[in-house]
Amino acid sequence: MTMTERALAPPLVAIGSSAAPLAAFENVFKIYGKGDAEVRALDGVNLQIAEGEFVAVMGPSGSGKSTAMNILGCLDKPTAGRYFFKGVDVMTLSADQLAMLRRHFLGFVFQGFNLLARTTALENLELPLIYQRIDKAKRRVMAMEALDVVGLLGREHHTPAELSGGQQQRVAIARAIVTKPSLLLADEPTGNLDSARGHEIMQLLAKLNRQKSLTVVLVTHEEEIAAYAGRRIEFRDGRIVRETRGSRAVNTRGTSESVQGA
Ligand SMILES: Nc1ncnc2c1ncn2[C@@H]1O[C@H](COP(=O)(O)OP(=O)(O)OP(=O)(O)O)[C@@H](O)[C@H]1O
Ligand SMILES: [Mg+2]
Repeated sequence: MTMTERALAPPLVAIGSSAAPLAAFENVFKIYGKGDAEVRALDGVNLQIAEGEFVAVMGPSGSGKSTAMNILGCLDKPTAGRYFFKGVDVMTLSADQLAMLRRHFLGFVFQGFNLLARTTALENLELPLIYQRIDKAKRRVMAMEALDVVGLLGREHHTPAELSGGQQQRVAIARAIVTKPSLLLADEPTGNLDSARGHEIMQLLAKLNRQKSLTVVLVTHEEEIAAYAGRRIEFRDGRIVRETRGSRAVNTRGTSESVQGA
């Protein structure tokens, strides 16, 4: 974190303690519309995500998964309730501080990859680093490192159109982790991929979770994909209706047995 960021984000530096969960919802509501048209996208959700966890969010269409992800990612705010990130009440942050939080602590991966067209893999990765005002030489090094992590060295000058779907999603993951975030949010990252490519992406996320202590929250409709996570949260009608901790968990401390290999 640079001096400027420290100045802009004092709550995150001063209050944020490692004892607090990385992310916590306290009775979070998200309500759209009024009266008969009212939709409770989130209907009083309590949730804690600890550092190093790998969480799968499941549930039927319209149950509130993406709404929860958008609030976790500070892309949206609750109608009521509180969201704490690293112990800091996100509602108390200024717009600048929120932008800073997103830029430095959060990474996003979407179903549709969302890469810039006609822009090379390397340039796609350098963009978030430009926002962080990291100089050109260092940007290059960090971007190449991230491409290496996702196994795409040699493809740095390819545009998205010159990459397969699986490769595009790996560029998107590299772009999400190039800033070294604390929390990676992935909303159906394997939704547009065939099964084999989906498993490759999950193996990559599991590796990042294990080796880089990256906390991962991922939305999926598929059992096989959710099986990579150590914990499963199920939404229904805006509420968490079930939570399970899986035996196939791969945690960051490396204490539990991995069945995924790699
Ligand atoms: N901007 C909005 N305005 C009004 N209603 C919304 C808005 N965004 C979401 N909703 C409603 O909130 C509910 C939850 O939506 P959400 O996108 O979180 O579902 P989801 O679990 O991600 O579903 P899917 O699996 O289809 O992606 C839905 O009923 C949806 O129609
Ligand atoms: Mg969704």
